[in-house]
Amino acid sequence: MKVTVVGAGNVGATCANVLAHRDFLTEVVLLDIKEGTAEGKALDTWQQAPIDYYSTKVTGVTNDYAKTANSDVVVITSGLPRKPGMSRDDLISTNANIVRSVTENVTKHSPDAVIIVVSNPLDVMTYCAYLTAKKDSSKVFGMAGILDTARYRAFLAEEIGCSPKDIQAILMGGHGDTMVPLPRYTTVAGIPVTELVAKDKLDAIIQRTKVGGGEIVNLLGTSAWYAPGAAAAQMVEAILKDEKRVFPVCAWLTGEYGLKNIYLGVPVVLGKKGIEKIIELQLNGEEKALLETSAQHVKEVMDVLDNMKEQKV
Ligand code: NAI
Ligand code: 2OP
Repeated sequence: MKVTVVGAGNVGATCANVLAHRDFLTEVVLLDIKEGTAEGKALDTWQQAPIDYYSTKVTGVTNDYAKTANSDVVVITSGLPRKPGMSRDDLISTNANIVRSVTENVTKHSPDAVIIVVSNPLDVMTYCAYLTAKKDSSKVFGMAGILDTARYRAFLAEEIGCSPKDIQAILMGGHGDTMVPLPRYTTVAGIPVTELVAKDKLDAIIQRTKVGGGEIVNLLGTSAWYAPGAAAAQMVEAILKDEKRVFPVCAWLTGEYGLKNIYLGVPVVLGKKGIEKIIELQLNGEEKALLETSAQHVKEVMDVLDNMKEQKV
């Protein structure tokens, strides 16, 4: 099994490194536009193999898409990250041009590959890849929900004083401050979280989760990479091992949740065909309203992309 990761920056290199550690792939190709970057990081990861005991070869290439041919999955992380004071949406025009040209290239060399988009603004870059790849939406989707849910789970584990492993949660909506964490669907080893965390503390954790990306941007001057890279790798593993994992994924909706023609974070089953099922939760009125607000925001940014295309910017 072969995976290509486009963009050998912080997130892409981490994703390739995590995939190598999982040791189930024949080959990972790391591709970047910047001469030597992918080659250097791939070599470093290969030199880690004797220490950490894995056999997966990571190969680095500079813009050479022929080397990515016949990949089963392609992860797109190429694009600018956020700087302090920027929203994810500020990245739209630069990253859309990058995601469009990368998608054209990978689709040419790996027409059957599943495409996982990571570049921001996530929901809209996933839409951009979908429009460009012209393949079924079950094979083009985005990573954000696993990361956002992981932040929520980590904050809860810290508050409760338990292992993050025991927090089960789901989070929906766009990858931005309007995302919708769902305490009604959050448990600690099966115990409803509301029995263990007071409402004011839970509200504060939900708020911290919503701006969790920005918290790291303010600390580092760029966006996060360890958790995002690992989250993308977890999706790759679920697909290629046909695990049927249930994850929040940025998926194309065709009427689910009363929403259509939009990419939005929803729970799905991930397996070898990509998105094998979109799960529809019975949201209450308040949850539905929050999801609709989030969808409205994503739609506005999708419209920006559509208008840019019309003006051929
Ligand atoms: P980075 O700046 O460290 O890496 C980006 C890499 O893309 C650079 O090495 C650059 O040379 C490369 N690149 C640019 N244009 C390219 C092209 N046309 N072809 C191939 N490579 C190209 O940025 P980082 O931190 O890795 O973030 C990457 C993207 O992921 C950003 O847009 C960031 O906002 C997004 N992100 C999304 C997350 C999510 O949850 N969906 C989480 C974290 C980051
Ligand atoms: C994050 O959530 C900025 O999308 C990036 O860390």
